[in-house]
Amino acid sequence: MKRALLGLFVLLIVIQFVPVDRANPDSDPALALRADGPVRDIFQRSCFDCHSNKSSWPWYSYVAPVSWLVADHVHEGRKELNFSVWNTYSPKRQSKKLKEIVEELEEGEMPLPPYLITHPDAAMSESDIQLIRMWAAQTDTMYVETEKTKE
Ligand code: HEC
Repeated sequence: MKRALLGLFVLLIVIQFVPVDRANPDSDPALALRADGPVRDIFQRSCFDCHSNKSSWPWYSYVAPVSWLVADHVHEGRKELNFSVWNTYSPKRQSKKLKEIVEELEEGEMPLPPYLITHPDAAMSESDIQLIRMWAAQTDTMYVETEKTKE
């Protein structure tokens, strides 16, 4: 029993040396999503930690194995949707992402549930979702029109 505990303790120490990428890449502010006040506030509050280059890295993101989980969510999240480089997406991709955002929110999939344990303020209220839904619909029409004018 003593040996097992000691082994576990040593393992916990050793895994702290596995490198974890907690970089917040630089990106041109001109490439970021431009949304107005309340919409921006909601994204910033509830989504930016995993879907932008401005993630905050709390103390537990420095403690393995939790750090691996946090970093994984950020890297996966940025790959799917990164508000910091929104303007590099084609109009078609932006339109698709807008639909996905609304879908994820309606299904209660985002923010990821484990995130809400440490960030209860990030939970989306019905009125938050309603606001994002309206904003997304409006923004999406704009993209559709841009696409059409191009043809
Ligand atoms: C704790 C990190 C985290 C937070 C916070 C978070 N997400 Fe995500 N998000 C992820 C990860 C990881 C994925 C990719 C895996 C998946 O789809 O579950 C993802 C995927 C997505 C996708 C793509 C889904 C698809 O259909 O492929 C959308 C859209 C999305 N998130 C929107 C949001 C929005 C909007 C918010 C804020 C309300 C948010 N997320 C908050 C981690 C997060």
